[in-house]
Amino acid sequence: MLEHEIKIPASPAKSYRTEIGSGLLGGLWPRIEADFNGYNKFVVTDENLVSAGHLEKLLGQSDAPAFVISPPGEASKNIDTAVTIIETMEKACLGRDTLVVALGGGTVGDIAGFAAAVFKRGVPVIQIPTTTVAQADSAVGGKTGIDSSLSKNAFGAFWHPSAVYIDVATLTTLDDRQFRAGLVESFKHALIADSEYFEYLENNLDAVLERKSEVLEKVAQFNCKIKGDVVETDPYEQNKRRILNYGHTIGHAVETASGFELLHGEAVAIGIIAAGMIEIELKIAPKDRLERVRQILEKLDVPVKLPPNLAEKDLIDLIKHDKKAVNKWPRFVLLNDIGQVYCPDGQYAVDVAPEILGRVLKIL
Ligand SMILES: NC(=O)c1ccc[n+]([C@@H]2O[C@H](COP(=O)([O-])OP(=O)(O)OC[C@H]3O[C@@H](n4cnc5c(N)ncnc54)[C@H](O)[C@@H]3O)[C@@H](O)[C@H]2O)c1
Ligand SMILES: [Zn+2]
Repeated sequence: MLEHEIKIPASPAKSYRTEIGSGLLGGLWPRIEADFNGYNKFVVTDENLVSAGHLEKLLGQSDAPAFVISPPGEASKNIDTAVTIIETMEKACLGRDTLVVALGGGTVGDIAGFAAAVFKRGVPVIQIPTTTVAQADSAVGGKTGIDSSLSKNAFGAFWHPSAVYIDVATLTTLDDRQFRAGLVESFKHALIADSEYFEYLENNLDAVLERKSEVLEKVAQFNCKIKGDVVETDPYEQNKRRILNYGHTIGHAVETASGFELLHGEAVAIGIIAAGMIEIELKIAPKDRLERVRQILEKLDVPVKLPPNLAEKDLIDLIKHDKKAVNKWPRFVLLNDIGQVYCPDGQYAVDVAPEILGRVLKIL
């Protein structure tokens, strides 16, 4: 037998800038043209971004092509939309020298990022996030994906953006429920990484809810730093990146069991409370810490209790099918304290006995 080994060098290190400001959108296009000189630009957005005037503000006088996803939201995050985007780019004779510009929430970012990752084996994408979820979470980190008819993010790729531009002024047109639910991801960041950030959110929640730009900029800055640090350490979710899953194992089950009546952030808020209750059961965190978290989530006006129509057994079944489960039981990210993940023996996610989870779900 003859053998020949082919060594593939590790992909070159990549870094990207996140720029944060209020009213950035207005003067952004000429800068994108200059920074990505030589690329044909192809914008992906959705109908609500068009009606809120954000696409017009971004493009100004430019006649760059824009694909407008319709209907907006999760219903369009599927392979049909990705195929239509790719075929639209082909019909416009775009090639590997294309820059995809994603303007919108997590749905737009995930679809556009996925299309960029697979179009002609991959073209660069820049993210311009416009929701509290996308600005805190999805725009940074490089996860892209679309849903199958059976599950969320069934297709996906790690495809890091080439730049992220966060204009907090875009949040002023976001629906109140979406705005509040998305902020739960910011609380999650504070909880897993930074007690000072948590205090900042506690002290400035009214200004956040009034959408004061200087406070939203500061929040975006904390989020980018925390998520960026985690992603730098573990870009492909081998270990530490799991901490971003805090509150999500139970949160995902609650979201699914609610038939997606609850928004993702609302379900994660319940998941964060559940994680806090598990921490008390395991005696790894003090009770008053959970109360502090509960108070702030209540002030945010997101749910902190299971809706009465959700059966504990259904939730346990869903948790068994969690995509990160091994032997039909997932491991949980827990905290010792605010800003401090419980990490025995270097493990960021730990086993929790089903009886403990059962007890918590009964009183949640
Ligand atoms: N890739 C990741 O790491 C990651 C992380 C978190 C969430 N996600 C994904 O993100 C998606 C959810 O994202 P989302 O919560 O931003 O939802 P979304 O993108 O569906 O936006 C929510 C709604 O708000 C509208 N909208 C967006 N920006 C607006 C603005 N500035 N003004 C007015 N309306 C606006 C949208 O059209 C939509 O109707 C999910 O599919 C989730 O899986 C991905
Ligand atoms: Zn989330």
